[in-house]
Amino acid sequence: EQINKGNYEHYMQKEIHEQPESLKTTMRGRLIRGGSCKAKTVLLGGLKDHLKTIRRSRRIVFIGCGTSYNAALAARPILEELSGVPVTMEIASDLLDRQGPIYREDTAVFVSQSGETADTLLALEYALENGALCVGITNTVGSAIARHTHCGIHINAGCEIGVASTKAYTSQIVVMAMLALAIGGDTISNQARREAVIDGLFDLPNNVREVLKLDQEMKDLAKLLVAEQSLLVFGRGYNYATALEGALKVKEVALMHSEGILAGEMKHGPLALVDENLPIVVIATRDACFSKQQSVIQQLHARKGRLIVMCSKGDANAVCLGGSCRIIEVPQVEDCLQPVVNIIPLQLLAYHLTVLRGFNVDQPRNLAKSVTTQ
Ligand code: AGP
Repeated sequence: EQINKGNYEHYMQKEIHEQPESLKTTMRGRLIRGGSCKAKTVLLGGLKDHLKTIRRSRRIVFIGCGTSYNAALAARPILEELSGVPVTMEIASDLLDRQGPIYREDTAVFVSQSGETADTLLALEYALENGALCVGITNTVGSAIARHTHCGIHINAGCEIGVASTKAYTSQIVVMAMLALAIGGDTISNQARREAVIDGLFDLPNNVREVLKLDQEMKDLAKLLVAEQSLLVFGRGYNYATALEGALKVKEVALMHSEGILAGEMKHGPLALVDENLPIVVIATRDACFSKQQSVIQQLHARKGRLIVMCSKGDANAVCLGGSCRIIEVPQVEDCLQPVVNIIPLQLLAYHLTVLRGFNVDQPRNLAKSVTTQ
């Protein structure tokens, strides 16, 4: 059942729309919310013998490629916040090129949908040689990364066929949010935050179902952008990863140049590109960075930027002060889970752009689902 297209025209389309279900499967049996006096907690069976070691590590190093790297980047802030352990990021090929430092006291977390990506696998061998505790987060039971790591968490998103990773991405973020909760443990100081994140996880499938209703709106936006050469995506904080991942989807399947930009870097170069022609998506949903994003929008307006702003429901007036812009309104969720909701309109946009531009959705030219060579 998982490997036919059902009523959909393409696997990518089907996999985007099945995210409310794939997220539920990812969380099933792992999130516990008891009666009124029972604590809310997370159970990750595959890690139970290693949590103490992870908590005592010198640092947590996330290692992956492409979308899997972006998912780890999205989860990094909540990992840092709840675990109190420093978290660093490595693109697998770059770690290998540099032969970067990995220590025995490190926990190295390998994130991969297929579990077979050559660069990630070689980075795993390298981390094992250097004595780190190696944790695998994969979507493929029995894959090389699942077999060679010391312990791990299955993503359980179900089989993903489209070369463009969609449902695996959102499930990876959820797995890493649960990892943050598990490492954080049940200290009193972060109890309220932990419970809010758990409640947010329980509500996430419904919020994702809600945001999927933007399908037609994203198709209309795709019609508007179909002939463009380029699309910029500005994000920051939790949603810097959303900007990178949204741009990756657009370039990978719609074959349109697209770049995810850290909004805090805008004045250090990208601002020179802004004019009345280049379309720019700005992610400005509510979180601690909101007022900074309002100011970015004002500066882009001042340069007559052609803006498409993604904001929380009801915030259209708050983000579009003093200029015109197209709005994408999404449900507001717990800040660390907002990347799961925010990527979905961009997945839909990439999908519709690809269909309208007449390219192969599920098998983009030059790409393979699993990159098993270096
Ligand atoms: C995602 O849309 C891409 N196809 C690609 O970036 C992919 O995420 C990357 O090759 C890593 O694959 P993995 O998750 O199977 O290791």
